[in-house]
Amino acid sequence: MRAGLLALSLLCGSTAAAYGFVGPESCKACHPEAYQKWKQAKHSRAKDSLSPAQQKDARCLTCHSPDEADQQVPHVSCETCHGGGQYYSARYVMRDPELVRLAGLADPSEKACRTCHDASSPSLKAFDFVEKLKLIDHWSAERERRKAARPTPKKK
Ligand code: HEC
Ligand code: HEC
Ligand code: HEC
Ligand code: HEC
Repeated sequence: MRAGLLALSLLCGSTAAAYGFVGPESCKACHPEAYQKWKQAKHSRAKDSLSPAQQKDARCLTCHSPDEADQQVPHVSCETCHGGGQYYSARYVMRDPELVRLAGLADPSEKACRTCHDASSPSLKAFDFVEKLKLIDHWSAERERRKAARPTPKKK
């Protein structure tokens, strides 16, 4: 990934949805803990809950595999929540909290969860963001590792 290309993309980029996906295996190289947790949870298999006929039904895919048609990445994947990683997943970009967001990294919000976890999902209980967030925790392990790797506490 070249800086010039990034600049170009920032000039031309219009919507976050326009950023290409790199796929979860690419994120795994640098975020192994996050990948493992995601892999164990249902988002990574959301499409598999559908029957073969339903897997062709756009009404089901909007939540169970929303980026497959455009980006060839099935299920509810890293980039479904974090945004397409085409420009942000280079290491020097990832390390820069401002640049990484300019390059398309999204901060997943309660509102974003609710685009799928709404009244039309089959869950009988209302979506409780704080509780549900705990169930998809794929960040604590990495944050612990980072903390341990930094002997002198830095301000963040
Ligand atoms: C080449 C290695 C690399 C790849 C590939 C990579 N990341 Fe990162 N990522 C990092 C590094 C390094 C950080 C910064 C961690 C730190 O603060 O020490 C980071 C930070 C992050 C953060 C937190 C950023 C912030 O400022 O809050 C998120 C979220 C993230 N990565 C998601 C992803 C996703 C999703 C993918 C795949 C599309 C991905 N990363 C691919 C290396 C990578
Ligand atoms: C608005 C988003 C949305 C749409 C559209 C949607 N689903 Fe779902 N579906 C969900 C969510 C969210 C869950 C998980 C509910 C929970 O456990 O909180 C789910 C769960 C399921 C489950 C249960 C999986 C399990 O592990 O028990 C099945 C089966 C399912 N959906 C089938 C379908 C089918 C078939 C369609 C199309 C007719 C469809 N869904 C359309 C959001 C959606
Ligand atoms: C359903 C949405 C969703 C999916 C799918 C998802 N994430 Fe996340 N991710 C989040 C949320 C929400 C947070 C922030 C949690 C918090 O700070 O409270 C997060 C946090 C992170 C962080 C920690 C950033 C930091 O500040 O330390 C990394 C790294 C990360 N995700 C990478 C990934 C990778 C890699 C994948 C796929 C293997 C993935 N995520 C899949 C929603 C998601
Ligand atoms: C693109 C749609 C989509 C988004 C966005 C989304 N989810 Fe989901 N989620 C689903 C679907 C579909 C399922 C059901 C998967 C299955 O069982 O087939 C699900 C299942 C879950 C489950 C139960 C499954 C498990 O792993 O035990 C939790 C918890 C959850 N989601 C939390 C969240 C949170 C928190 C967010 C926001 C940070 C979020 N989801 C964003 C579609 C989505």
